[in-house]
Amino acid sequence: MSKNNDELFKNVIGHAKEYGFVFPSSEIYDGLSAVYDYGQLGAELKNNLKTYWWKSMVQMNENIVGLDSAIFMHPKIWKASGHVDGFADPMIDNKDSKKRYRADNLIEDKIAKYESEGKKEKAEILQQAMDAALTADDLSALKNLIEEHQIVCPVSGTRNWTDVRQFNLMFSTQMGAMAEGSDEVYLRPETAQGIFVNFLNVQKSGRMKIPFGIAQIGKAFRNEVIARQFIMRMREFEQMEMQFFVRPGTEMEWYKHWKETRLKWHLAIGTPENKYRFHDHVKLAHYANAAVDIEFEFPFGFKEVEGIHSRTDFDLSQHQKFSGKKMQYFDNDLNQEGKPYGNYIPYVIETSIGLDRLFLLTLCNAYEEEDLSSDERQDSRTVLHLHPALAPVKATVLPLTKKDGLPEKARQIMDKLKYDFNMQYDEKDSIGKRYRRQDAIGTPFCITVDHQSLEDDTVTIRHRDSMKQERVLTKDLKNIIGELVSWKNLLS
Ligand code: GAP
Repeated sequence: MSKNNDELFKNVIGHAKEYGFVFPSSEIYDGLSAVYDYGQLGAELKNNLKTYWWKSMVQMNENIVGLDSAIFMHPKIWKASGHVDGFADPMIDNKDSKKRYRADNLIEDKIAKYESEGKKEKAEILQQAMDAALTADDLSALKNLIEEHQIVCPVSGTRNWTDVRQFNLMFSTQMGAMAEGSDEVYLRPETAQGIFVNFLNVQKSGRMKIPFGIAQIGKAFRNEVIARQFIMRMREFEQMEMQFFVRPGTEMEWYKHWKETRLKWHLAIGTPENKYRFHDHVKLAHYANAAVDIEFEFPFGFKEVEGIHSRTDFDLSQHQKFSGKKMQYFDNDLNQEGKPYGNYIPYVIETSIGLDRLFLLTLCNAYEEEDLSSDERQDSRTVLHLHPALAPVKATVLPLTKKDGLPEKARQIMDKLKYDFNMQYDEKDSIGKRYRRQDAIGTPFCITVDHQSLEDDTVTIRHRDSMKQERVLTKDLKNIIGELVSWKNLLS
């Protein structure tokens, strides 16, 4: 990360805490590594991001329905899905610092170093060698690369490494009051399995016809060894996943469809296109026959935000095998076409986005330290250019002064609008300071009540990004703001 980007990222983290977006978990006890809490504005922004996803996936698609499955599931599910045996990261310990690292992360950092030093060829060779080692699950090849490229521990500075070992990422706990007779259960590492095991429940009760999707938002847990980059890699995080069930043989056309659809969804928020890129997986997960990441350029570089995976019939077949229950779909349309395979296990295209990474992306993208200096004076503001539909507070009502009946008039306006929009009221400090406070939390509109308001029942609306003001009738406020913050502006 260059110094500027490093500083920018630190400022974003500081801003998130100062204004109540994100706090370190258990802060008064010195925090809990890789766990975070969302504050009063963070909870609003997060809810709005969920609503945007849910509306676009569930409400805008007649053939996608929602689900809210439990975090605890039968332990056999994780055996069937391959997570008990295969959901692991290659880890290496430094014997001097006693610190543990993901071997591929250490190598990635070295590749980034080579790139920053202009050693492009070296970076490419190392990248290819790492991809090959990961694809072959060759742990000793990873260790060799660390040695060959003289990668040192960032803490001790030494090359005194252990071998590379696999480390399972699932958290487990006991279900039942007593250890005796209780079962080990896992905190789900992905929400997807809750969808797979409910596939037939939803299909039958909803009379769904293939192709159709099931979407779910919920918490997932991974015992990440490396806590990195604020809320980018957490131990408790939220996923928004959708499994789209299709006829075998049609999966690649749906894979392409969802790849394009999901990128468009990202761009609608207002993020510049050049901040995104696709990254095709070289090493495919045990369940996939194609996979791509949508990566966003954070201040610390391009990183995965969302994955689109062609999961074949792996998960449903495994659940059929492990549960002994049929997971087949009867395709009446195929039967009528006279094709022989009316019954089949559907193939699945998955879209899986991390809500916390989306939150971070939104914050980084919206954050600006704007220089407003003119020839006459120095001035600046910190502003969050959030899309109005996503902004935590839609509008704030501000009486110009605390007297002459202006606060009462402002309160009346507030009381009318609060049923439709998340509003704030603020009468403390000068009007300029109050505008700056709202800019800093991304409020798109400030409604100012002045003396003229008492005479002709008008107010001014100040627009956050342009800082321009317009005078409007109080009775029109609900419609004007309603139009400006409408989900329609994001979804159509
Ligand atoms: N069901 C497929 C699946 O879970 P994944 O690529 O492991 O695939 C999907 O995760 C998304 O979940 C990622 O693109 C990322 O946005 C988010 N994610 C994964 N691990 C995370 C973590 N430790 N902290 C925050 N977000 C995470």
